[in-house]
Amino acid sequence: MDKTVLITGAGHRIGAQIARSLHRNGFSIAVHYNSSHAQAQALVASLNAERKNTAIEIQCDLSSGPFVDKLIGAVSNHWGRLDLLINNASIYEPSDLSVEDPDAWNRIISTNLRAPYMLSVGALPMLREARGAIINLTDIYALRPQLGYAVYCASKAGLVGLTKALALELAPDIRVNGVAPGPIVWAPGDDPHHRLEVMQKTPLGRLGTETDVANAVCYIATASYVTGQIIEVDGGRSIFI
Ligand SMILES: NC(=O)c1ccc[n+]([C@@H]2O[C@H](COP(=O)([O-])OP(=O)(O)OC[C@H]3O[C@@H](n4cnc5c(N)ncnc54)[C@H](OP(=O)(O)O)[C@@H]3O)[C@@H](O)[C@H]2O)c1
Repeated sequence: MDKTVLITGAGHRIGAQIARSLHRNGFSIAVHYNSSHAQAQALVASLNAERKNTAIEIQCDLSSGPFVDKLIGAVSNHWGRLDLLINNASIYEPSDLSVEDPDAWNRIISTNLRAPYMLSVGALPMLREARGAIINLTDIYALRPQLGYAVYCASKAGLVGLTKALALELAPDIRVNGVAPGPIVWAPGDDPHHRLEVMQKTPLGRLGTETDVANAVCYIATASYVTGQIIEVDGGRSIFI
């Protein structure tokens, strides 16, 4: 039977490319989404058209509610095994320090940090049985924060810590790693001057693509002697002074 992967936030953008790349490498894919129903449905249809019964879609909100039972239960009922959990879903939004906004804190930390932890714990029995792996999508801004994004950066810094702590706790049965993209897929309406500025500070001289991130994920998925690591996929931007 194919190996199976659950990818959160995989309806479009980076998560969808990770799904397509892992599917090409023989995985069956559980595509989680929250609001991107049409994109998730189209992605699952295209994967199943390539190989029958190799993709399912599951909707839920990761900021609250019984999402662990829903997601892990769906994979368990459908395939009865889980080899890889990819915590990709995320909220990226600025934090206005002049306003007290506990809702924003709760929403961002719940989705970006609590959900990966809860899903990792919920997936443990199946991941242990498969001697599987967890991959968390962090950010180069986790350890070198981006101005204006305090809560997002704190959530990703927490996710880096969680990645390493789980790698230690779950070895030797389960490998846990992170992939930290630099700016890859831009927020709609992002300033083109900012993109140019970023490219000028990127040693490899170009912006990254979803495929660049998916390639790193595919590498970690099979890198059987790698755990507790965060791979930065940023064209060398983080070493630019
Ligand atoms: N884009 C970049 O250049 C970049 C740079 C650095 C790091 N990263 C990291 O790489 C990963 C993928 O990046 P991306 O830009 O493709 O991500 P994204 O579009 O910002 O978010 C991915 C998905 O997360 C889901 N999501 C958000 N809140 C949710 C909630 N409460 N419950 C369930 N799902 C929720 C959304 O699903 P729906 O659309 O279905 O609602 C969304 O499609 C993220 O972890 C991101 O932090 C990306």
